[in-house]
Amino acid sequence: MNPKTVKDYIRSIHDFPHEGIIFRDVTTLFADARGFRMAVDQLLHGFAGARIDKVAGLEARGFILGGAVAHQLSTGFVPIRKKGKLPGAVISEAYELEYGEAVMEIHDDALQPGERVLIVDDLLATGGTAEAGIKLCTRLGAEVIGCAFVIDLPELGGRKRLEEMGMPIHTLTQFEGL
Ligand code: PRP
Ligand code: MG
Repeated sequence: MNPKTVKDYIRSIHDFPHEGIIFRDVTTLFADARGFRMAVDQLLHGFAGARIDKVAGLEARGFILGGAVAHQLSTGFVPIRKKGKLPGAVISEAYELEYGEAVMEIHDDALQPGERVLIVDDLLATGGTAEAGIKLCTRLGAEVIGCAFVIDLPELGGRKRLEEMGMPIHTLTQFEGL
């Protein structure tokens, strides 16, 4: 039998959070010692040799992965959070959701001009969340050197959208459909 891949550790839950949606559940990946390490190591493979000053994680599952990636790289970690969660002065970026819009925020002193940042999240769907994260880092004068995700849902177009911005994108596995 072939050794398990990252994809094998991801659980699919049908009809969550809505009927007809298959939720790709990474808690089963995170809970497995081998699976979690494999995911963190592979996220980094896409940027081997690159100078990275800080890792930025997108709330919420990007905190778990991004924290581990930052520890592995011995860099600092910066949270990009949903509106109203960060205690200090922030800058904000709105992004589109299926219905309406949402806002992501970063502390306005979290990154220094010229710092090279890797953005990490669990899943790339439309790319709206990641684009907001890229804009926030860029507005602080940092350089986003790329984005790393465990899961790509290519039918939702996120990779294409971010690559059209000139952003290097690294993903570990794909699922078809939503
Ligand atoms: C999910 C996922 C990504 C985002 C991807 O997060 O964890 O962060 O959606 O979607 P997009 O590419 O279309 O922007 P969600 O907004 O459900 O929040 P959570 O991580 O806090 O659960
Ligand atoms: Mg998320």
